Amino acid sequence: MSDSDAVDPFSVNGLNTVIVGGTAGIGLAVAARLVSCGATVTVTGRRAEGESLAASIGARFVRMDIADRGSVAEGFASILSDTPHIDCLILNAGVDMFHGEIDDLDLDTFERVFDINTLGLVRSLAHGVNAMSAGGSIIVTSSPAGSIAAPGMAAYSASKAALDMLVRSWALELGPKQIRVNSVLPGIVESEMDAASTAELEVIRRMTANGVYRRAEEMGPVFQFLASPASAPLTGSMVGAHDGISIGYSHEAMGLIASGVDEGDTDG
Ligand SMILES: NC(=O)c1ccc[n+]([C@@H]2O[C@H](COP(=O)([O-])OP(=O)(O)OC[C@H]3O[C@@H](n4cnc5c(N)ncnc54)[C@H](OP(=O)(O)O)[C@@H]3O)[C@@H](O)[C@H]2O)c1
Repeated sequence: MSDSDAVDPFSVNGLNTVIVGGTAGIGLAVAARLVSCGATVTVTGRRAEGESLAASIGARFVRMDIADRGSVAEGFASILSDTPHIDCLILNAGVDMFHGEIDDLDLDTFERVFDINTLGLVRSLAHGVNAMSAGGSIIVTSSPAGSIAAPGMAAYSASKAALDMLVRSWALELGPKQIRVNSVLPGIVESEMDAASTAELEVIRRMTANGVYRRAEEMGPVFQFLASPASAPLTGSMVGAHDGISIGYSHEAMGLIASGVDEGDTDG
């Protein structure tokens, strides 16, 4: 650590960082940011091109399917054979799949969302947490959807709401070891996950306070803050990086609702 790092509370220089779900979108962008700031980063994921993607940003790749307990065990064994300890563990992997509404539910898909978004992160932390020491930071990627319900989004929303409670539980459990646990709640960020439904994205964009659609790179500094000593007083916090999506009704949302209401619609 250099002298300038010693006085820079935002420094992540030299931090051993593992990003579970770091091969695309937000995870890959955060990995690139942390590498550029001097961290040693391992990204995990399932895709065949994981190795070359990681190499392109100066990170290491370990294949891991978090829906598979054996794969998570093997993946962490491989990470820890190379990395003696983990300073920052980012649990970012997540999926959003269409499963229909409760009266016409694709139960397999519903279960799959939970298995990855919630249980996958539990499996990952269970295998990684004992490699973390005092001063460590765990960052979970949750979503404003964890506190806003919408028809057809039950599994995604509930899987993220469960994460919000896990973050609080883990923060309390790991506090005595001086390990912090926080979450980031991105709003609407360009990624593979979002590529699927342009119309839906436009609706969500209009729910932001400022009408903004973020690039994944813009999430990097938020995660860097939580990885760094600058965020030392934060644990059990849900950091809303969502442009106000969950705080109320935006001007655009109010306008859209109002445009569908005739003067004569009021019953009294
Ligand atoms: N984009 C948004 O607007 C937004 C908003 C709020 C919250 N989020 C959350 O942000 C996180 C990242 O999302 P993103 O938008 O960046 O999505 P993305 O581009 O689709 O990336 C998802 C990442 O999760 C990994 N992953 C998915 N299933 C996995 C599995 N079974 N095992 C291991 N890794 C798996 C993927 O790796 P492989 O495909 O290589 O396995 C990939 O690295 C998610 O938790 C998401 O819910 C996103």
